[in-house]
Amino acid sequence: MPLMTPEDTTARSVEDTLKGNLSEPDQLAALLVRVRRHLHEHPELGLREFNTSRFIRAVLETHGLDVHGPIAETGLYVDIKGDLPGPMVAYRADIDALPIKEQNDLPYSSKNDGVAHLCGHDAHTAMAIGVAVYLDHHRSELQGTVRVFFQPNEEGIPSGAPLMIEAGVVKGVSAVYASHVDPTIAAGRFGLMTGAVTASADRFRVRVMADSTGHSARPHQATDPIWIATQIMSDLYQMLGRISDPRRPAVIAICRMHAGEAYNVIPDEAEFGGTFRCTANDDRVIFKRNIEQTATYVGKGHGARVEVDFDLGSPPVVNDGELIHVMREAIEETHGREAIYNIPVPSMGAEDFAHYLDHAPGALIRIGTCSGPETAHVLHDSRFNIDESVMAPAAITMSRALMKLLRRKAS
Ligand code: NI
Repeated sequence: MPLMTPEDTTARSVEDTLKGNLSEPDQLAALLVRVRRHLHEHPELGLREFNTSRFIRAVLETHGLDVHGPIAETGLYVDIKGDLPGPMVAYRADIDALPIKEQNDLPYSSKNDGVAHLCGHDAHTAMAIGVAVYLDHHRSELQGTVRVFFQPNEEGIPSGAPLMIEAGVVKGVSAVYASHVDPTIAAGRFGLMTGAVTASADRFRVRVMADSTGHSARPHQATDPIWIATQIMSDLYQMLGRISDPRRPAVIAICRMHAGEAYNVIPDEAEFGGTFRCTANDDRVIFKRNIEQTATYVGKGHGARVEVDFDLGSPPVVNDGELIHVMREAIEETHGREAIYNIPVPSMGAEDFAHYLDHAPGALIRIGTCSGPETAHVLHDSRFNIDESVMAPAAITMSRALMKLLRRKAS
């Protein structure tokens, strides 16, 4: 995969990207579009966002901000310290792209073959730069500090959030916001929800093993791992609403299975795996324990050995009520009540922003980006794109919510 040289990414683009008095909203808008298009054209995969990180640093430094990092490989942060004393709150952006070939034919389409910003993290990064720059121009009104941080590898494992936490990014932070673009919401609207807004995502893998292979004519003389695996799978599908409270959404999906080669040989091993997703953290423990027990006991009952492994991923994102209240006020004051979309049900997708919520209350806001057929493709679709005009108003709204939150906490 052809990677760019550092010279490509920083020197030229920063120079022709950034100038002017950015307290003007239209100039902020122009800046964010240029930043987003540069990132879109030069996407990088998780924990390898080296040029992306250098570019973010260069943009922020061009605007006189003091950039800290890199931490967690490619992560960065800036602290916007207000003129008035107060606590510290934070705003997070993710910076990584996906291993997908982009199908859009745009002047700024991905130049990195097989890698593309199809989850909008280019826009998240641009908006976070907008938040930092906007707040820097409003230090006199800021009652405390806003830490704006840029996190690598939201999409992959090991995901970036725990690495950023380990590096201390939320130390001393009393609340944290993030936002995600959303092509299912109209441009100009913001999706809000209190409580669980995304689910957890944990992976499981089950291996069912026999001592030897057998003849398909005489299964009664063999231990048949496929027959046993199907019984375990069927038990797993029946757990929903039986081991967990049916009022709390959860879903199990078995997405891979491998066993056997020949049509007339019972194999000595079968393996399958998938994910389980829950909107309540307690349910993750219940599902994990039950998957392990069911697989082990069903296997044992039929004379097979069973191994169960887990890769624990992100917890659910549970939005804090006060933070949503503050964000709602900021949106209503700036864009009116009709700009708010009350999200009716949580997404069963996961977002590693959840890890920060173990350390501070937080909220994830959806930013509507759809204004026609070209911006209606779903996240991770190879044709995904956004209405860029939402970025500057969203950055200003996020900034105002952060200022409001600090005022509230300081008083
Ligand atoms: Ni994303």
